[in-house]
Amino acid sequence: MDTLILCGSGNPEGYTHAVCRKLAERMGNGTEIVFLGASDIGDCTGCGGCRKNGICVLKDDMPYDRLGSADTVILATPLHFNGCSSILKRSIDRLNPYWYGKGSVQGRAYGIVIGGSKEPVFRHALSEMRSGCAALKKKWMGECLVPDTDDTEPDIDLIMEKVLSDLEVDRDGTGLDRP
Ligand SMILES: Cc1cc2nc3c(=O)[nH]c(=O)nc-3n(C[C@H](O)[C@H](O)[C@H](O)COP(=O)(O)O)c2cc1C
Repeated sequence: MDTLILCGSGNPEGYTHAVCRKLAERMGNGTEIVFLGASDIGDCTGCGGCRKNGICVLKDDMPYDRLGSADTVILATPLHFNGCSSILKRSIDRLNPYWYGKGSVQGRAYGIVIGGSKEPVFRHALSEMRSGCAALKKKWMGECLVPDTDDTEPDIDLIMEKVLSDLEVDRDGTGLDRP
């Protein structure tokens, strides 16, 4: 398994970080987390440079190589005003070079969204994630939506079970299936 987790929270003490760290531990070798909040990733300016050759003009920490090559990309974000965090959204916008790229679906993608309300509105964040992953040409494998963190502590083990089962990864972190 070759998995890239993009962690879209700026809070190292929060649940999104905890879920990403635990997931990397459970998925084992070949899994890498990029903490986007601690990375130097600039805003897409819409300059159109990537339309010419599919390459972004910005030179920073945006992990283009790993995004293209990873079998599995997992996007994780806290819900912020019904959408992805601006930290994750900035990186989703930077997927624009892939929008112009040709090629077929390679690998798969998955989303984790963590909201504080009892009944959060997840659909906007999911739409942003799925749209970015469509540009990346990764097959969407589903999502894990975690509500109610304002009043309860989410059960990270239960979250792990759902994510690993959706991704068909067994308990030892061995991939049971490849896209
Ligand atoms: C700026 C901001 C906006 C938020 N907007 C929402 C929201 O629209 N819906 C919701 O359910 N929770 C919202 N929350 C709560 C967070 O999603 C929740 O606290 C989450 O657990 C934060 O992630 P973390 O635990 O990784 O820090 C918001 C929090 C912040 C800081």
